[in-house]
Amino acid sequence: MKTLVVLDFGSQYSQLIVRRVRELGFYAELFPHDTSPESFSRLDIGAFILSGGPSSVYDPRAPGFPDFLNLFKKPVLGICYGMQLLAYSLGGKVEPGPGEFGETTFRVIREHPLFSGIPIFFKVWMSHRDRVSSLPPRFICLGETESCPIAAISDEDSLFLGLQFHPEVEHTHFGRKILENFLEKICGLPREWSPSHFIESEIQRIKEKVKEGRVLCAISGGVDSAVTAFLLQKAIPGKFLPLFVNTGLLRLKEEEQVLDAFKRAGIQFRYIDRSRLFFQALKGITDPEEKRRIVGNLFVEVFAREAREIGPFQFLAQGTIYPDVIESRAKERSSADRIKTHHNVGGLPEVLPFELIEPLRFLFKDEVRVIGKLIGVPSEILLRQPFPGPGLAVRIIGEVTEEKVEILKRADYIFREELGKAGLEKEPDQFFAVLLPVKAVGVTGDRRAYGFVVALRAVQTRDFMTADWTPLPPELLKKVSSRICNDIPEVTRVVYDVTSKPPATIEWE
Ligand code: XMP
Repeated sequence: MKTLVVLDFGSQYSQLIVRRVRELGFYAELFPHDTSPESFSRLDIGAFILSGGPSSVYDPRAPGFPDFLNLFKKPVLGICYGMQLLAYSLGGKVEPGPGEFGETTFRVIREHPLFSGIPIFFKVWMSHRDRVSSLPPRFICLGETESCPIAAISDEDSLFLGLQFHPEVEHTHFGRKILENFLEKICGLPREWSPSHFIESEIQRIKEKVKEGRVLCAISGGVDSAVTAFLLQKAIPGKFLPLFVNTGLLRLKEEEQVLDAFKRAGIQFRYIDRSRLFFQALKGITDPEEKRRIVGNLFVEVFAREAREIGPFQFLAQGTIYPDVIESRAKERSSADRIKTHHNVGGLPEVLPFELIEPLRFLFKDEVRVIGKLIGVPSEILLRQPFPGPGLAVRIIGEVTEEKVEILKRADYIFREELGKAGLEKEPDQFFAVLLPVKAVGVTGDRRAYGFVVALRAVQTRDFMTADWTPLPPELLKKVSSRICNDIPEVTRVVYDVTSKPPATIEWE
């Protein structure tokens, strides 16, 4: 498939470029700007986009122009820093300007296929300080804004093009049309990317790879692993086995729901309950990172032991998705302090000598949901909120015990049930209950009680990197609180978390 390669120079919008391009029906992948050209050997490259980024081309440590772009002889569109880098490297000049942040008006001053079907004046989204002040040889200026006289450029062959504004963000009017013009009119790329095309070609690829082998598939109850398993069922029914390890740290009735969906789809699976092992391992542990490490390692150990017993398998299928791939690439490169490790089943491939099958490796979450819908994954699974790998272990502050897990599961279920009854379960992007390690005094009947405190958390977020607390209706909170205290005698107090991220994180640990 013809692929647009987006080279990431550090802009917060780099992933967005890829999504927009795919939404338009063209296939795109994101790579770090200093990727070695050999890494592209599996791709049929049709064009490049250079993303924006925080650097200035004159900074000695600024990312440079990738030399391989000259070898490929494919159209290159530079956006923001990408345009400045392109202009500077090809002989133009870049200088600090007054800067433009936010919405401004762009004027097309030269007819060009990039702006075909678009009015002369339109609103664009800018975020830059430097600007191109003189064009490289054989380049023409295509458009301007009030404080940026060279805001769009192209060479005479339309091989190197640049936009100072961000066509990928919603605030830029006609942004999609400009990207479409670039891909269709300038690069001549075919629209080959669609969810149903993906399903067909992935099924074929899995069949060809697995042949007569057997595949073990890790299922966690989350969206990604379920879609992976349903896809395998379409490709190689009978040749794969989903393995579900119950850690005892899932939400109430969650495993039943997932396993029921598998049964209804006629997918054979193996279920093992190892909750005792997990509770034992967590005994006396209060540090959140230690809990994550213990749950992650034990999961890998239990899974690997089971795999050896019920094997042999030649392949391991995992629900890795594109943000995981991008994030792990970034982690490899950066030594920045991590606020918390997000431990999933990442350790499995190191322990199990199986070849990996990761059919969703290049998909974003919303694309996974679309594919899941098309292959019949039930909506209650597709719409599931993110759930941390270490599960309720990081929602019980302090030591985890079986008793506390039971209390939290019930409180959390009441919260979910009441939000559902109020028709508000889609309002927050994530909501849950947390069990605190303090006790508070209450009265039940005429007697003094001394019980647990439950905190309720509900947040709205686009990307889970920042989040706002959701102002749930007081009547609903009242109902949830009174039900939790009445139905769960061990709890005497319920509080509502009104902290956004930052300064807090979404989870309490
Ligand atoms: P924080 O708490 O970092 O959470 O604001 C952001 C998102 O990540 C989820 N989360 C985790 N997911 N393993 C995971 O797989 C973890 O250890 C973990 N900790 C937090 C959290 O639920 C939220 O969606």
